[in-house]
Amino acid sequence: MSSARTTLAPVSKVKIEVKVNGEVRQADVDPRIPLVQLLRDELGLTGTHIGCLTGHCGACTILLNGSAVKSCTVLAASANGDEIRTVEGLADGDLHPVQKAFWDYQGFQCGYCTPGMIMTTLELLRENPDPNDNEIKAGISGNLCRCTGYQTIIQAVRGAAEALRRNPQPADKS
Ligand code: FES
Ligand code: FES
Repeated sequence: MSSARTTLAPVSKVKIEVKVNGEVRQADVDPRIPLVQLLRDELGLTGTHIGCLTGHCGACTILLNGSAVKSCTVLAASANGDEIRTVEGLADGDLHPVQKAFWDYQGFQCGYCTPGMIMTTLELLRENPDPNDNEIKAGISGNLCRCTGYQTIIQAVRGAAEALRRNPQPADKS
């Protein structure tokens, strides 16, 4: 039996410019690659994780123009001119209050889902600064965790909400 190997045909790259964590970055991208691949492979921002690449797990969640988006579902080329915030853009010397809450409440075990959970939490708490548990569950329902059983994540989001109400972060408004 002959073995056939499928290779993608070469295509012309597309020049794009994005603002990532406040920094303008340029890249020549294959128009077929998803945004998560641009972030990880071209821009070196490996805090954004890849789980499924099909929009189901939420590990790749980032903020795109302020909205939580699964970055495996967006073509990198289509993000030209957009503003992106990744987990690397949160800590400013100290951990961001949402990161600190995940640490304090042990809202992770292996940590694979954590960057996506945190970025989703940022959007959730911007929209609803004092969510109840059902609202937290609904808010993180697009992010899967195989380790924690979710209880400590819910506690972490609750703790993050309290921390942000005490100490709002101006950068989170955008
Ligand atoms: Fe994007 Fe799973 S890797 S949703
Ligand atoms: Fe391991 Fe969530 S902490 S997948």
